[in-house]
Amino acid sequence: PRFHVDGAVVPASEATVSVRDRGFRYGDAAFETLRTYAGDVFEWAAHADRLRATCDLLSIDHGLSDSELRRRIDETLVANDLDDAYVRLSISRGVQPGKLTPQPDVTPTVVVEVDALPRGGLEGESVWDGPATLQTVKTQRVPDRAIPARAKTHNYLNGILARLELRIDGPDGPETTADEALLLDADGAVTEGATSNVFFVDDRALHTPSLDGPVLPGITRSVVLDLAREERIPVNEGRYTPDDLRSADEVFLTNTTWELRPVSKVDGIEVGGGPVTPLLSKLFDARVE
Ligand code: PDD
Repeated sequence: PRFHVDGAVVPASEATVSVRDRGFRYGDAAFETLRTYAGDVFEWAAHADRLRATCDLLSIDHGLSDSELRRRIDETLVANDLDDAYVRLSISRGVQPGKLTPQPDVTPTVVVEVDALPRGGLEGESVWDGPATLQTVKTQRVPDRAIPARAKTHNYLNGILARLELRIDGPDGPETTADEALLLDADGAVTEGATSNVFFVDDRALHTPSLDGPVLPGITRSVVLDLAREERIPVNEGRYTPDDLRSADEVFLTNTTWELRPVSKVDGIEVGGGPVTPLLSKLFDARVE
C-alpha cells in the first residue's frame, strides 16, 4: 500500500514519523476513521466537522482546509486504486521545541492510511464474523475536565484498558471474553463501546445513550438515528443501565467499519434478535448504495 505523509504519497514501508512527534510522545493528535463506498468518502462533511471540533478543542491549529485534507485522502485512494476502502486520517501537533506545553506555531504531521474494506452490509462476514458479544467493564467513560469523550484524539488508552479487561489466558494463548467492551459512566449509566456506539430496541422503539453523557458523537450513530426517524421508528436518546441492554429485545453496535453490528449477548445474557436491526441495516445499505 501507499500512504500520505506530510504532503507526499509514499510506500507504506517508508511512511514514517519522527520519534519527537508529539503524537508519539504524548498522544497529542486527532484522527478520524472513514470509509469509502465506490470510491466516495461516506459522510465526509460530518467527519470533517468532528475533526475540526477535536482540533479546536486541542488547539491544534493545523492550517489545512477541509478540501486540502479531502484532496490528500483522494490522492491516496487513487494511488492505491481502491474503491471500497478504510481510511484513517491523523493530524498530530508535530515536532515542537520545548516539552509538554504546546506552542502556538504548528507544523502538523498529517498522515492518511488506507486499506481495502469490502462492503459489510447485512452479511458483513468480511468485516466482522457474526454478532458481537458485549461485556460491561470497570473502566469508565467519565464526564469531567479531562479529555472529553466527544473528542476523537489519539488518547485511546481508556478504550485500550477496557479492551484489556476482556483478555484472559486461554490454553493456546490470550483469548477474549467478549468482542466489545461496554463502558459505563461514574454513576453506572451506559455510555458506549470502546470503539462503537450502542443501541437497543424495546417494544419497537430505538434507544441510544444521549450525547449529554460522555459519548463520542458517532457518524454512524447519527445516520442510524436519521434512518429510524425517516422510518417513523420511535427514537429515544436517554440514560440507560446495563440491565436495560440485558433485557432489551435487540441490541446493536455502530461504527464506521462495522456499520450496524448486531449483539448476541450482553454480560453473558442472550439478547433475542428482532426485526428492527435488520430493517435498519437494510436501510443503511440502501443509504450507502
Ligand atoms: N471509532 N465511540 C468510540 C469511542 C469510537 O472510537 C468510535 C469510532 C465510535 C463510532 O463512531 P463512528 O460511527 O463515527 O465511526 C463510537 C473508530 C472506528 C476507530 O476507532 O477507528
